[in-house]
Amino acid sequence: MAGADARLTLDGTTLDLPVEHATVGNDGLQISTLLKDTGKVTIDPGFMNTASCESRITYIDGDNGILRYRGYPIEQLASQSTFLEVSHLLIHGELPSEDVLNALNNRVRRHMHLSDNMKQFLFAFPRDAQPMSVLSGAISALATFYPESTGHDDESLELATVLLLAKAATVIASMQRRAAGGDLIEPRDGHYVSEFLRIAFSPNSGDMDVDPDFRKALDLLLILHADHEQNCSTSTVRMVGSSHANIYASIAAGIGALSGPLHGGANEAALKMFDQIKESGDTVEQFVAKVKDKSEGARLMGFGHRVYKSYDPRGAVVKQVADSILSKNGGDNQTFEMAQRLEEIALSDEYFIERKLYPNVDFYTGLLYSAMGFPSPIFTPLFALGRMPGWIAHYREMLSDPRTKIGRPRQIYLGEVERDYIPMGQR
Ligand code: CMC
Repeated sequence: MAGADARLTLDGTTLDLPVEHATVGNDGLQISTLLKDTGKVTIDPGFMNTASCESRITYIDGDNGILRYRGYPIEQLASQSTFLEVSHLLIHGELPSEDVLNALNNRVRRHMHLSDNMKQFLFAFPRDAQPMSVLSGAISALATFYPESTGHDDESLELATVLLLAKAATVIASMQRRAAGGDLIEPRDGHYVSEFLRIAFSPNSGDMDVDPDFRKALDLLLILHADHEQNCSTSTVRMVGSSHANIYASIAAGIGALSGPLHGGANEAALKMFDQIKESGDTVEQFVAKVKDKSEGARLMGFGHRVYKSYDPRGAVVKQVADSILSKNGGDNQTFEMAQRLEEIALSDEYFIERKLYPNVDFYTGLLYSAMGFPSPIFTPLFALGRMPGWIAHYREMLSDPRTKIGRPRQIYLGEVERDYIPMGQR
């Protein structure tokens, strides 16, 4: 939607920059003809101030701690919805009817079975292979096992959507089994998240009663991670997809982006940090002093966010459920208490206050996953499973947007201007 123009005066020339209005949130200045009109480009490292697209999927108000999927507040979805329902909402824009949701559930559940080829592929990786690398490889490989789902037509995209939700769950749960020394087991009929937990944790016989509290908590954690607009991994998915690479190649690249400790890897990094504080014998106050000092390069992992300059609303929901889950068997209450103390100190410290650093979703999730029995290398794949519908929704939105162009940023070149080649003997 175009509105009143903004004006830019450059080298004595005044340019009109059309303003694009958001339904809510930041409006944007259209600068796409700037280079043509002025010979200048804009520079914005880390895209602190750059909207790469228009989107109707997720809205974040970082100053006020608001997150909405398709207009629905995250708190309502977390308390009333399920992960597959939220997946449909993100991808198709509306909450599904009961029939549509049941059909999705059945289709996803049917596709949770892995073909023999896919199992052999997974077995080719070492048992202790880095799970995000295996996941990225497995998602990429879906294009080879299901070439009929790599097109851009609705039918292919619907099939790819179901395959991604289904296979990612089985692959991640199976990696967990394999790492723990178990054999692969087959999915059964049942609730998506229950099946995920059963595949991950049951004995080789496959019999296990899934703890309903854990199922509910994991469903909720997946919902909380399901989308977060143009974050690093989602922007990667859109960027790769903008070349018309297939959905699997695009999402595999997003998984690579998510693996970094500044992005999805922060849940594992936060838990490691808690352990390191305990092992070092430092008090929480001493650790916070090291973070502020910066000389040791320590960061308070699970704190701070590019967009949230107040409490991450996802972190607030996670903290609420952490208490109930951690009080069940296996819960590490001592670490939870330490984490809460760390939060309390940081939130009253000038360093964190002036930089507006608050706990993000990853501060407490590692503790929760750990209480459910997941080892730390599986934490980031769990984030990836949650983010799958968001990546799919953005890929599909990007493809259907007539304004999408192949992503190709410019640069400010600072290298040598021109020089002559020096033969080897003269260097
Ligand atoms: N601990 C200590 N200082 C911090 C932290 C932190 N966690 N985060 C930011 N700062 C400081 C930073 O040193 C800088 O200080 P100064 O102004 O003195 O140079 C200032 O705050 C601004 O930081 P920045 O790195 O410029 O901010 P950014 O927007 O580029 O980075 C971030 C955002 C999430 C990468 C960063 O806050 C961070 O590294 N946090 C820890 C990792 C983490 O928890 N990541 C999970 C993000 S949420 C899940 C997801 O979406 O992936």
